[in-house]
Amino acid sequence: MALRLGDTAPNFKIATTQGDIDFHEWSGDSWVFFFSHPADFTPVCTTEMGRTAQLAAEFAARNTKSLGLSTDSVEEHLKWIADVNDTQNTTLEFPIVADEDFKISELYDMIHPGESETAAVRSVFIIDPNKKIRLIMTYPMSCGRNFDEILRVIDALQLSDAKRIATPADWKKGDEVIIPPSISNEAAKDIFPQGWNELRPYLRLTKV
Ligand code: BEZ
Repeated sequence: MALRLGDTAPNFKIATTQGDIDFHEWSGDSWVFFFSHPADFTPVCTTEMGRTAQLAAEFAARNTKSLGLSTDSVEEHLKWIADVNDTQNTTLEFPIVADEDFKISELYDMIHPGESETAAVRSVFIIDPNKKIRLIMTYPMSCGRNFDEILRVIDALQLSDAKRIATPADWKKGDEVIIPPSISNEAAKDIFPQGWNELRPYLRLTKV
């Protein structure tokens, strides 16, 4: 059965460009940005790997480890990383899983036969430190992912955990947030002493 939000991210042991890992041990107390790619030495994937490497400080600031995956070997990945570094003007320092026998891509439902029988689509899993899957996105092979959105949604998830809020459409760090309907006005007075703007009883905006 396909993985769903709130499920525990299945553990696995696998070879990566930084040696063998046990996924749950490797992720430790961090959030994880786990993302799959159709294949090494392909143009869109090269830009995505490069962008992830360029954003290393942004991911670290969010206590988030990046983990790539494609269905090629460690040897191929290592050769490709040299190209990524060269063409994207970066230094890629996160591990890439070598899922040559499709075990992990099948476990995470990354193979969509309508797109390809042999390559993973562009899946994204954001996994929290409790190993729960908090976000799933799937992009087709032809569309590179939006990394502003990936960072934005990690910010939104972390803020919603810390402050018991929800985030409105197109929310960005610093914008107003929503008091969830599950919090009564009575309880909200304690949780949000700064007050709120009540547009409707179910739509209350505040700053945190
Ligand atoms: C790419 O990463 O460039 C790519 C991979 C598969 C199909 C199309 C593009």
